[in-house]
Amino acid sequence: MGSLKETQPANGVKRKRDEGKVQPSPLQQKRLKLLATRKLLPIWSHQKEIRDALKENDVLVLSGETGSGKSTQIPQFILSQPWCTGKIAVTQPRRVAAISLARRVAEEMGTPLGSSSPASKVGYSVRFDESTSPSTRIKFLTEGMLLQEMLRDATLGQYSCIVVDEVHERSVNVDLILGFLRGLLASKRKKPIKVVVMSATADIQGISWFFAAPSPSVENVENFTGNANGHTIGTEETPVKSPISAEERQISICHVEGRQYPVKLDYLASPTEDIMEAALHRIFQIHCKEPMPGDMLVFMTGQETIQGLQKLVEEYAQGLTADYPKILVLPLFAALPQAAQQRIFQPAPPNTRKVILSTNIAETSVTVPGVRFVVDTGKVKVKQFRNRLGLDSLLVKQISKSSADQRKGRAGREGPGQCYRLYTQEAYQTLERDTIPEILRCDLSEAILKMKARGTDDVLGFPFLTPPPREGMERALLQLLQLGALEDTGRISEVGRKISRLPLTPSLGRVIIEAAKPEMDCLLETIDIVACLSVENIFLNIDTEEAREQAQTARQQLLRRQGDHLTLLAAVRAYAAEHSDRRRWADDHLISHRAMQSVMDVRKQLIAQCIQSKLLDKAPGNDRSRATEDRATDEATQERILKCFLRGFSNNIARLCPDGSYKTFVGNQTVTIHPSSVLFGRKVEAILYNEFVFTNKAYARGASAVQIRWLEEIFG
Ligand code: CDP
Repeated sequence: MGSLKETQPANGVKRKRDEGKVQPSPLQQKRLKLLATRKLLPIWSHQKEIRDALKENDVLVLSGETGSGKSTQIPQFILSQPWCTGKIAVTQPRRVAAISLARRVAEEMGTPLGSSSPASKVGYSVRFDESTSPSTRIKFLTEGMLLQEMLRDATLGQYSCIVVDEVHERSVNVDLILGFLRGLLASKRKKPIKVVVMSATADIQGISWFFAAPSPSVENVENFTGNANGHTIGTEETPVKSPISAEERQISICHVEGRQYPVKLDYLASPTEDIMEAALHRIFQIHCKEPMPGDMLVFMTGQETIQGLQKLVEEYAQGLTADYPKILVLPLFAALPQAAQQRIFQPAPPNTRKVILSTNIAETSVTVPGVRFVVDTGKVKVKQFRNRLGLDSLLVKQISKSSADQRKGRAGREGPGQCYRLYTQEAYQTLERDTIPEILRCDLSEAILKMKARGTDDVLGFPFLTPPPREGMERALLQLLQLGALEDTGRISEVGRKISRLPLTPSLGRVIIEAAKPEMDCLLETIDIVACLSVENIFLNIDTEEAREQAQTARQQLLRRQGDHLTLLAAVRAYAAEHSDRRRWADDHLISHRAMQSVMDVRKQLIAQCIQSKLLDKAPGNDRSRATEDRATDEATQERILKCFLRGFSNNIARLCPDGSYKTFVGNQTVTIHPSSVLFGRKVEAILYNEFVFTNKAYARGASAVQIRWLEEIFG
């Protein structure tokens, strides 16, 4: 055979002259290979039905089990439709899902990903990271980013179709998006927009009703139980109190049967108190008794428990004899940097079993390949807002039956699997049927500010899928008023507009605005702290007294007696100033290098955002960390920094009482300083804290010492 000469690649295709044959480029080869896999997906045979439904109707509500192909295939099915001349947005609750889906769909389409090439057709946009090109047609983006785009263009004019994925999770953002889209469908937009709403649970009649009816009452939406077997429903007789014109709308419903192998269930015979111990025990029991292959997916509550368990599993795994396969522990939680998250999608090395320790992120949002064993602790960490107390607390709660079933399903995607529930069968029976929508249990101030910034002034009249309690709405309006985000009339203020452009909660946004004031002059320092607070925890978990002492010594240089905010600042500054070996620096200080990388990322993005919003003139130079280090430790600057935080967190202040306890100003609730805090065990006049965590006690986490005198100065 003669040597092969390649001509210039044209349209991604290389020609080998002497054979006269067309040799596909690597991208195209991959595309062709994946096409075979795509054709096996349950959704593939519904292609025509889905296209027809969208040709005739504006709204398609689609249910199908996780893994049936909804997120990856739907945008590709509709891309070439004559009505689809603009872009397609696909929203995701989590950044990791948005990025990994974009990567997968780009591969399936044989196009480069995001900003890597001007010809790329698939991109993504997540908070602090946008990767698109001038040719982007399909954009995976987090719900928050779509809402952010609505600030620039409330009509979402560049899109022909919005695909709202994972609605069963019922995040607040999804509920807002659904409400806005309902308005948009009824509006006089230049080009009509199509909406696809997708859910992993079959319980979608309420949503179709919401779109079909001009103003469904809550009872109707929640109690509606029809079957969702691929038929088109018409509009219903409905009340007329809606701000949206009562245009009649046809909604298509489609249900895709999943491909699920049988999963054997195992419960505990009696309840356990120690979830860590039970999980550890179960992991090794499976590993040692069950032959390969088959990876394990363990559902934990959050970063701390995941990292704690990771350490234990790795320690025990070292003691395994060579008769057993190796164990590769991979954590998965939202705050994990992207590169680390992507590792879970890669196959394990030979003779190794992956053990993925995940939050509920892997429940429906992210599909981890290779999993045959699921260990379910039955717990989830949720934010719960208590309107009366005005306190946001992070609670570890029992999951719902629907979550438990989703978790179980993860074991049966590629073959028969096993699911080990670390609770009893009786306990399962007592679980709630569905997860409570976030809008019923969250602080509504962010949601309300989002509505106001997008032109919805009458927030009480907003078309909510599930209207939140009025008390919560009123409280949130009051808080926004306190933050200065609203005028007395209830309209959004200039400060409110500035806050709404920042990818932060109204409280943190307010802190940034305050810090940018000339008289406060501490924006860069504040950005560093806010960046840390946006990443779950930079300090590695400390669980024993001995480890605590060790950490105290290792972190001595960084600890600031005023508390956690300034300690975080010192940590960021020291890390940024380290130019030789940052990983080693992090290890030496018992700080998570991964978390610090995320902090640096967020910090960069926040600076860019502040420049864009004219809060900052220009980006600081490279020598900034060293040059400003001294200033950051200067007492007056420190005081101003804490005052800025007070301005944004006026509800998170507690004073020392004569009995030695701390009581909140709002609600008079007793709080204890969290053991992870620099202030733990110390008595100061008053504390300001970042969050309120309720585990066995009410803990204030991320606490700093403040003076009552400052409060008088700020709030009068
Ligand atoms: O949305 P749904 O859960 O119904 O399915 P999907 O996310 O479209 O996934 C369909 C298939 O694509 C999965 O079973 C995986 O084999 C593959 N996939 C992948 O390899 N990587 C991803 N990031 C997402 C999906």
